[in-house]
Amino acid sequence: MIDVKKDTESALRDAAEVTAELVLNGYVEKWVEGAIFPSEMAFFLAKCMVEGVTTVVESGRQDGYSTEILGDWASRDGRRIISIDLEDDAARAAACRRRLSPWPIELIKGSAYEQFGRWTKRTPDGPVGFLADGPKGWPAISMMAAATTDRVRVVALHNLTIGSGERALFEQIGGKQAFYEHAIVAPGPRWTELRNREMNFASAADAQRSLDVSSLGVLSLDADRRGMFRGLWRPEFGLHQPAAVRTLWNLGLAVASTKLYGLSFRLLGR
Ligand SMILES: C[S@@+](CC[C@H](N)C(=O)[O-])C[C@H]1O[C@@H](n2cnc3c(N)ncnc32)[C@H](O)[C@@H]1O
Repeated sequence: MIDVKKDTESALRDAAEVTAELVLNGYVEKWVEGAIFPSEMAFFLAKCMVEGVTTVVESGRQDGYSTEILGDWASRDGRRIISIDLEDDAARAAACRRRLSPWPIELIKGSAYEQFGRWTKRTPDGPVGFLADGPKGWPAISMMAAATTDRVRVVALHNLTIGSGERALFEQIGGKQAFYEHAIVAPGPRWTELRNREMNFASAADAQRSLDVSSLGVLSLDADRRGMFRGLWRPEFGLHQPAAVRTLWNLGLAVASTKLYGLSFRLLGR
């Protein structure tokens, strides 16, 4: 009998060797405080490779650390990246755009509450991955759940701290394997080197987040998990329940969906 769990683990281990190599090649020492850690990016991309993802929609790029890694990955196999950010700081945004200019990335300025669903619909045929690192928390989860179509295979959210309800939800849907320390159980040499170099570099840079426990939750969505994620309805969402956000997007009322998030925060504090 085929051991599906073992097959999945070894496919992920092999993919993680490929993506660890990519990140080792120039990105570990470019990490800056606030950015997603190098190993977290390698884990997200490994999951995307296992699921055959051809387009990633990202929200929250700031100085472009995570986005540059996505762009480098995409450039190798004709994949596509769409990256959304508010770009509130014009000088910072311009520097980020210069940094990302060599890579095949569609850079969108605007609120992800408005743009995320619109751009997901515009993705070319093929499996899609989501990476959210601004907005965060429950609003990011409702936004991604609202945007989830049948083609969405991977969903990731940053800053899922231990003890938070958002992290518990990711573990409920994807098991502890939503975090790399539980998913990559027998790491290969490239992954081990990546973790060692990251530890050395980020400790010297006095990193504020834990280097032992990751905070990027990554869900692989089969049909059951996709249905569960898409259909989420929780008090923590307040007024921005995924079904309501999706309905506004489908009616062409994307601007109103941004207002819904603001109204929910003002009325209910969430
Ligand atoms: C922590 S930074 C992202 C860091 C980046 N992912 C990295 O690893 O290098 C968060 C970013 O999210 C953006 N952001 C926050 N809320 C947003 C929203 N509603 N729509 C679009 N971007 C948003 C901010 O402008 C900021 O640039």
